[in-house]
Amino acid sequence: MSALNQALRAALSARQALIAELHSQGTDCYRLFHGSQEGAPGLTVDRYGAQLLVQSFHHPLERDALLELFATCQEFLGEALLPVYNDRSQANSRIDRTDPLYRAEPEALADLIGHEWGLNYRVRARHAGQDPLLFLDLRNARGWVKRHSAGKSVLNLFAYTCGVGLCAAAGAARAVTNLDFAEGNLAVGRENAALNPELPAMRFITSDYFPAIRQLAGLPVARRHGQRLPDYPRLAAEQFDLVFLDPPAWARSAFGTVDLLRDYQSLLKPALLATAEGGTLVCCNNLARVELDEWRDQVLRCASKSGRPVREVEVLPPAADFPSTDGHHPLKTLILHL
Ligand SMILES: C[S@@+](CC[C@H](N)C(=O)[O-])C[C@H]1O[C@@H](n2cnc3c(N)ncnc32)[C@H](O)[C@@H]1O
Repeated sequence: MSALNQALRAALSARQALIAELHSQGTDCYRLFHGSQEGAPGLTVDRYGAQLLVQSFHHPLERDALLELFATCQEFLGEALLPVYNDRSQANSRIDRTDPLYRAEPEALADLIGHEWGLNYRVRARHAGQDPLLFLDLRNARGWVKRHSAGKSVLNLFAYTCGVGLCAAAGAARAVTNLDFAEGNLAVGRENAALNPELPAMRFITSDYFPAIRQLAGLPVARRHGQRLPDYPRLAAEQFDLVFLDPPAWARSAFGTVDLLRDYQSLLKPALLATAEGGTLVCCNNLARVELDEWRDQVLRCASKSGRPVREVEVLPPAADFPSTDGHHPLKTLILHL
C-alpha cells in the first residue's frame, strides 16, 4: 500500500466517531483528509454532500494515486460519491480547469446540495471563484451562532455565501444582515436562503466593508490620502446584538486594506462599535502565521482602547476533522462578550 493511502486510511479511521456524530446532526459536509497535519502537505479531501472533492495545492497528484484516494474514501463511507479533482498547484491556488489528469462526470459538477447542522447549502465544485462555497473549518463557529442567536439582531461581515447568516436565521435571530462587496458571493447566499424556505428572510448589503462598517458604527467615512472615494451605499448607524467578523487574510480595495497580519485593529474597532452594549462579537483570524495568544492580546487591547472592554472571552477551535499536531490551528476564533 502506498504511503499516501496508508496516511488516508489512518485519517479516516481517526474520524469514525466524528463522522457518525456529524451524520446524526444532519451534516454531510466535512474534511476527510487534512494533508498538512496528516502526512501529505498540500493535499485535502473533503466531502460536500454527494460530492467527493480532492484538492492539491503544491503539485498535481499521479492519476493512480488519485483513483486510489477516491476508492478508499468511498469504501470507508460505504457510499458511491461523485468524485471531483481540483488541482490548485498553479499561481494563486487557481484551479487547473483543463483537467489533464481526471475529468469529473457532468453530474459531479452540477449544482448539488450539501447539509450542515440540518441546513441545506449550495455545493458547486466549479464556479467563477476558486474556493468551495462553504468553508468547512468554520462549521463549529456556525453551530455556535445557530445556538446563540435566538431573539438577536445579527450582523454577518465578509459574509461570502452567508453560511453564518443562515445559521443565525435558523437559530431564531430577530433580524439577520449579511454584508459583502462581491455580488456573486451574496447571490449564492440568496440561493442558500432559497434552499431553506422555512427560514425568515435575511437582509443582504452589497458594499465594501470599510464605508459600511464605519457608517453602521456611526463613524465618518474618511477620504484616503485626500483621494475622492468611489460611490458606496448609504447606511444608517445601527448596533447589533451579535456581530460576526471573519475577513480574508489580505484584500485591498479603494476604501482600505484588509491585512490580518499587520492591522487587525482597523477591521475590529468599527465592528466593536457596531456591537450593542452587552452584545457579542465573534472574530476570526485565518492566517496560520498569527499566534492565538498574541492575537488575543491584540484584540483585547483594541477593545479596551475603543472603549468596549471585553467582559469574557472564549476560544472556539475547529472540529476534529481539522486536526492540529501542535494545537495551533490556522483558523482562530474568539467569542468576545462585551
Ligand atoms: C474568506 S471569505 C469570508 C468567509 C466567510 N466569513 C464565511 O462565513 O464563509 C472572504 C470574503 O470577504 C469578501 N471581501 C473581501 N474584501 C472585502 C471588502 N473590502 N469589503 C467587503 N467584502 C470583502 C470577499 O468577497 C469574500 O466573500
